[in-house]
Amino acid sequence: MRRITLPLVLGSATMLGSEPHDRLEMRQISKSFGGVHALRNVSFRARAGAVHALCGENGAGKSTLMKILAGAITDFEGQILIDGRALSFSGPRDAEDAGVRIIYQELNLVPEMTVAANIFLGRERRHGLGWLDNRTMEAETRRLFERLGAPISPRTIVGDLRIGDQQMVEIAKALAFEAAILIMDEPTSALSDAEVARLYRVINDLRAGGHTIIYISHKMNEVFTLADDVTVLRDGQFVASAASRETQPDQVVRWMVGREIAAMHYEPHPISERAMLEVSGLSLASPPLSGRPALRDISFQVHAREVVGVAGLLGAGRTELLEALCGASPERPGGSILLNGRPVHFRHPSDAIEAGVALVTEDRKNLGLFNEMTVGENITIGHIGALSKGGVIDRGAEMRAIRHAIERLSIKTAGPSALVTSLSGGNQQKCILARWLMIEPKVLLLDEPTRGIDVGAKAEIYNLIRELVKHGMAIIMTSSELPELLTVSDRIMVLCEGRKTAELTRAEATEESIMHAATQFLDRVSKAS
Ligand SMILES: Nc1ncnc2c1ncn2[C@@H]1O[C@H](COP(=O)(O)OP(=O)(O)OP(=O)(O)O)[C@@H](O)[C@H]1O
Ligand SMILES: [Mg+2]
Repeated sequence: MRRITLPLVLGSATMLGSEPHDRLEMRQISKSFGGVHALRNVSFRARAGAVHALCGENGAGKSTLMKILAGAITDFEGQILIDGRALSFSGPRDAEDAGVRIIYQELNLVPEMTVAANIFLGRERRHGLGWLDNRTMEAETRRLFERLGAPISPRTIVGDLRIGDQQMVEIAKALAFEAAILIMDEPTSALSDAEVARLYRVINDLRAGGHTIIYISHKMNEVFTLADDVTVLRDGQFVASAASRETQPDQVVRWMVGREIAAMHYEPHPISERAMLEVSGLSLASPPLSGRPALRDISFQVHAREVVGVAGLLGAGRTELLEALCGASPERPGGSILLNGRPVHFRHPSDAIEAGVALVTEDRKNLGLFNEMTVGENITIGHIGALSKGGVIDRGAEMRAIRHAIERLSIKTAGPSALVTSLSGGNQQKCILARWLMIEPKVLLLDEPTRGIDVGAKAEIYNLIRELVKHGMAIIMTSSELPELLTVSDRIMVLCEGRKTAELTRAEATEESIMHAATQFLDRVSKAS
């Protein structure tokens, strides 16, 4: 229906050959940032008509390698060849002209602009006289979302969309200009299962059409479902490349971490009788046109020393629930919340923090990180009061606390004074966690805390969660990865369309029972229609 021609640089003969060939070759790439060697002599080849997974721990150099390929980093050593031709990019535009498109890990959209304007940013469609052709751009945007099966309106302001939808916009943006080489840096980290399934279909189509897809992911099931080939980096160096059918997930993980990682299992532990948080009849209106789900009559308790997992599809209201519990909702929630037996009404997250309720948000770029600040400042920012004596910050104590946090979470950084933006995505996430751990709240709300975090570090975070509850904390955590929820939760609450549809004990909670409750109303709707 819509055949957009590929960039001329490829030539038709190379494009349609039946045998997959090397579309891309990156030779001996090295890159350092100050003293940090992000990449050392890395060589990487990827075939046409294939999905190539790029794996490695947080900070291994995956995003850096791909930023070089996408023309976002131009000062590096080494060579890039596409279809055998050496190319040099002086910016992203050159890479795009050579047929390379990237979906960044940290979403790269302009929040004030509409969805359609973001998708065509810098490549606007125009009428003959130079005016913007909004009609065409909106129609093309609509078609892209149809292909992705995502009900997003081209005219919505991007900043009003939830992070999962923003990720869909980022994907649509990359698909708008059909690219010979499409790089996806953790594209599914905020997508629901249904959206992931749709994205897989699109990727399979692209592969069949001869495109090269480079796919960065920490999820082994994803790598082994999608990828034809796998390459692993560790500490900025090439470790191995293999056809995925000739290797195993365990092997890839060993290449990544250079050691064995023990599988984590749920460990029963004593839970306090005392309810730390009692929520009854919690409800929240959905702001008009926001597309955010409303919450309806949600009641539950969380005890001290307990982890309650919140499951649900994207749009089920998981984030809205956590926001409503800590005064972060745009509207005032109805119902009542008792903290430690006393009623609380938080107007703002700072009220909640003062009372001992802290939220770690899923959207680290917009809500969690202070990009102009250092790693150390990002970690201690909520905690300066406790590190001060008579109004003066105790710098020694501050530095000790920061070093302790960096060590405890194995944050990979040049040091406390490095800018937080110099850290890899997963390590930025660890900084936010470190900040809240330092405050030691009574109730910790974790929204997708392991998004973008590698297998080794995930295990560290699960251990940390266990340690925190042992010390009496109550934790509510959302995750779209069911195995993860089943590993850490003492109880699992399931939401569907803003309602609680199940509360499952350890004995009752399985992937099947959770999915059943998560799709309860959806089933009814689709059966009715
Ligand atoms: N702009 C920068 N300034 C300084 N150091 C940087 C910069 N960008 C990346 N680095 C460093 O380079 C190394 C590789 O980072 P990169 O972002 O490529 O890792 P990654 O493999 O994508 O990790 P993740 O899985 O966490 O996204 C890290 O040590 C990181 O701190
Ligand atoms: Mg990265």
